[in-house]
Amino acid sequence: MDKLGMENGIQNSELYWQRASSLIPCGTQCLSKGPTQFIDGYAPKYLASGNGCVVTDVDGNRLIDYGMGLGAVSLGYQYPSVNSAIINQLNEAITLTLMHPLEVEVSELIREVVPCAESVRFGKNGSDVTSAAVRLARAYTRKDIILCGGYHGWHDWYVITTERSVGIPPVLEGLTKKFTYNDINSLKILMNKYKGRVAAVIMEPVGVIHPQPHFLADVKQLAHDNGALLIFDEVLTGFRIALGGAQQHYGVTPDLATFGKAVANGMPLSVLAGKAEIMSELENVFFSFTFGGEMLSLAAAKATIEEMKAHHTVDHVNAMGKRLMEQGNTIIEQYGLSERIGIQGPHAKTLFVYSEAPDTLLIKSFLQQEMMRRGILFTSYNYVSYSHKEEQIQYTLDALNDALSELSKAMKQNNLVERLEGKAVAPVFRKA
Ligand SMILES: Cc1ncc(COP(=O)(O)O)c(C=O)c1O
Repeated sequence: MDKLGMENGIQNSELYWQRASSLIPCGTQCLSKGPTQFIDGYAPKYLASGNGCVVTDVDGNRLIDYGMGLGAVSLGYQYPSVNSAIINQLNEAITLTLMHPLEVEVSELIREVVPCAESVRFGKNGSDVTSAAVRLARAYTRKDIILCGGYHGWHDWYVITTERSVGIPPVLEGLTKKFTYNDINSLKILMNKYKGRVAAVIMEPVGVIHPQPHFLADVKQLAHDNGALLIFDEVLTGFRIALGGAQQHYGVTPDLATFGKAVANGMPLSVLAGKAEIMSELENVFFSFTFGGEMLSLAAAKATIEEMKAHHTVDHVNAMGKRLMEQGNTIIEQYGLSERIGIQGPHAKTLFVYSEAPDTLLIKSFLQQEMMRRGILFTSYNYVSYSHKEEQIQYTLDALNDALSELSKAMKQNNLVERLEGKAVAPVFRKA
């Protein structure tokens, strides 16, 4: 492998940041990419390119990436068959005045692999389709309350439940309520409180913690007993945990499901899929936008799903994720740090967790810094792609070993603050 690490410094990143700071509110288009999640002063702020699972920043530093475009780049950067499909389509047209056959072809592919997908529509962002699913559920059931469990995007119906709800009319507050994952009673309480009014339960089928046995089936039963739909938000789990998503992996088929990210290897495409009878209500519901049916993303999705099917890429991703998680946790244990740090989550989608303590963010920052020094870009949510092969996983585990050795020394010597070469990271805005 060519040299990885931060040897070139971050001068160019800082120059772009200076230009952005008075021009772009928050400095970024996506909060998860912004500098608060990385050590300000040490970490690169701008990346220039990616190849396989390695990214290069604007100063020429090369890092093995585990952010993978926030989980969107499922096969790898510059993946040959996907790039060719995009380029071929680019030579035909990007977006046209009438429909394009790819809409039909990709819908058929999705119907083939996703259990609930009798009918399919497309959006651009995950938020498009979670919001469409919610509107559809309300139209189909003629009810108004939504019970949700997870993160579902930036639209009013969901963000009203979060701490960042400024700008959203408080009148919406009563219409979306949150329940606790793996706590069927928390859902029962809400179902009883809003009896006869619940249109849908929308949830991430798995976040960091695996569902308890029967939990997903119990949620489905409870929703149906109360005349509500079950929507699985598979924006993160779809085309990742299994080709057919968490619904296939756990054997619980929802009424509707939403997908995004991994489906098009980084191109902006999301999917709303579900039972034909329910989906047909979209004949009445308004869900329509200029870039619906844009073809570069559909061409990318077609090539991505075909590649996933032909090469069982999801199995590879899960095997590599399992190795990273199990061996990573063993190394953490060897340094006696497992009470402070752990790697958790489904194998294809792993997360570093840090026990809550006053120095948690400092520990997280220090570990991120030492991994970065050795050429690894870890974010709060980490994804293994098909381009992460044995070699990169082994390199990462070796880097983790060295970084933990430095961390444990710094903790013993009580000099974490002095050794941090920038500002500690802020808490993640998206709760697990
Ligand atoms: C589970 C889940 N649902 C919905 C969304 C929103 O997707 P987007 O940011 O593409 O709108 C996300 C984004 O991270 C997500 O993780």
